[in-house]
Amino acid sequence: MSAATVAYPAETDVADASAEAREDAPPGSFTITLIIRRFIPEIDEEPRWEDFDVNVFPTDRILDALHKIKWEQDGSLTFRRSCAHGICGSDAMRINGRNRLACKTLIKDLDPSKPIYVEAIKGLPLEKDLVVDMEPFFESYRQIQPFLQASGTPDRERHQTVEARARFDDTTKCILCAACTSSCPVFWTDGQYFGPAAIVNAHRFIFDDRDEASQVRLDILNDKEGVWRCRTTFNCSDACPRGIEVTKAIAEVKQAVLRGRA
Ligand code: SF4
Ligand code: FES
Repeated sequence: MSAATVAYPAETDVADASAEAREDAPPGSFTITLIIRRFIPEIDEEPRWEDFDVNVFPTDRILDALHKIKWEQDGSLTFRRSCAHGICGSDAMRINGRNRLACKTLIKDLDPSKPIYVEAIKGLPLEKDLVVDMEPFFESYRQIQPFLQASGTPDRERHQTVEARARFDDTTKCILCAACTSSCPVFWTDGQYFGPAAIVNAHRFIFDDRDEASQVRLDILNDKEGVWRCRTTFNCSDACPRGIEVTKAIAEVKQAVLRGRA
C-alpha cells in the first residue's frame, strides 16, 4: 500500500478542536486535535483519517501526544519509536505535511489552535498506521557498502588528520531515519533510486582517507539509479533532523564520480 497520494480532510470535518483548556486539565495544559492517517490492514481497504483530542503541554512533543492517545484512548494506534531523543531515527513521520521526528517536534512549534496532521512517511510500503516497511530503504543502504574497508592489520590505530576527518564530518551524523529519502520526489516515483540517505552514507566512506573502496562505491553510484537521478530539489536537506547538508553531499559525490576519485 503506497502512501504517495494523500488528500487531507477538511478542517470543518474535524470534531471541536483545539488549543482549549479543559476544566479538569492540569494548569498550563490545553487540548489539541491530532488527525492521524490510519491503516489497519486487517480491517481497512484504504487508509482513513481519524481525529483524536488530547490534552498536552506546550513543551510536549508529538511523540508524547501519540503516547497519550495509545495509552489512554486507542491501544491499536501503531508507530515506531525507541530512544525518544532524536538518536535512533525510528519515528520519522509526516507532521503537517513535512517529514520530522515525532520526538523532536514540540507542540509549541506548531500551531496548536489548528488540527495537526500526522501520517506515515511516503514512498515506502505502508504496513500499519504510521509504520512503513523500511526494507527497501535498508537494501539501498547495504548496497553502498557502509563500512570501512582497509587492508592489512596495523598494530596501532589508523591516524587521520583533522582536515581529512573534516571532509566527511557532516555525513557521520546520519541516524538512518529515512526522512530525506522519503521526502524525495524522485524516490516516490522511482522505487529503484538509491535515495539521499544511501548516498549520504556512501559519502561518509568515500571521503574517508583510511578507506580503500571509494572507487567501488563511486562505480555503484554512477549507475543509472545512482547519483544522477538526483534533481537537486533540496527536499532532503530541509527534511534532515540532523541538519546534514544532504544535497551538498550528493553534489560532492557527483563531482567525485566525474573526477574518478574521492
Ligand atoms: S541524512 Fe538526515 S534525514 Fe537522511 S536518513 Fe540521515 S539523518 Fe535521516
Ligand atoms: S524515537 Fe529515536 S529518534 Fe525519535
